[in-house]
Amino acid sequence: MKRDFLTIWDFSPQEIQRILERSIEFKNSKGPGACPLIGKSFGLIFEKASTRTRVSFEAAIYQLGAHSVYMNTSEIQLGRGETVADTARVLSSYLDGIIIRTYGHERIQDFASNASVPVINALTDRHHPCQVLADMMTILEKKGRLEGVNVAYIGDGNNVANSLIEGASRMGMNLYLACPEGCEPDAAVLEAARQTARSEIMVLREPREAAGRADVVYTDVWVSMGQEKKAEDKMKKFSNYQINESLMACARKDAIVMHCLPAHRGQEITSAVMDGPGSVIFEQAANRLYTEKALLEMLASA
Ligand code: CP
Ligand code: NVA
Repeated sequence: MKRDFLTIWDFSPQEIQRILERSIEFKNSKGPGACPLIGKSFGLIFEKASTRTRVSFEAAIYQLGAHSVYMNTSEIQLGRGETVADTARVLSSYLDGIIIRTYGHERIQDFASNASVPVINALTDRHHPCQVLADMMTILEKKGRLEGVNVAYIGDGNNVANSLIEGASRMGMNLYLACPEGCEPDAAVLEAARQTARSEIMVLREPREAAGRADVVYTDVWVSMGQEKKAEDKMKKFSNYQINESLMACARKDAIVMHCLPAHRGQEITSAVMDGPGSVIFEQAANRLYTEKALLEMLASA
């Protein structure tokens, strides 16, 4: 039966561990390597902008021996009103997997339930699971483990925060989120994650409280794609939530700094921290390639 990857929740801790180990193997391997997906084709449907996700998937697909077809919604009939269900049925007859970036999470669920090939979530308003696979790979590389690592997420309770919550629950990381009032993560995601978590997952108000014992300090933009109308209001709420040298002084001395990118330098993070000695942000971005390869291999060679 086909497997989808719509949220971190779709994989068990053992499956996530296997993907992370395989990603590290891909990273360490020299030369072109085997092409386990030779002869296969993958579609990428993007309804929002992307640099890292689109390009890392396209490169990963090529490196695994397969072919990618990029579709901007405005150039396919989906953008002219063809239904999600009909599009999913038709594309499933040509392709071996479909990677989608869209707005409402229900839209990708609808697509996946009508597709007969694996569907991968390349970001929705509610989740960004592919990002969090690369984040966990980076933490594993830098800290040598996930279990018991203290992660402070300072900022908006958005798609990245929701997927981090699920990742923390699955892999035993402690997660302290500092979010302004009204910008907390999704309550249902939080509740489900807490029910099975063997670690602490807490939503706090004060950035310094979250950063206090942090091994990892993570942030994301204050205004996500599609939320531009709320920008002015959000800027006011987030003025105390910047990751800067003063906040980093609260974290452990060997704390690493993470950001999924793109960043707004001078807003959620200063350039001094982003380019400073604790930053692993660009390695985190580079790791997207290896986790996309491991994910595609697992879902598409089944
Ligand atoms: N982090 C991330 O998903 O970046 P893109 O929006 O550039 O794909
Ligand atoms: N939260 C951001 C992540 C971008 C990769 C957004 O949805 O725009």
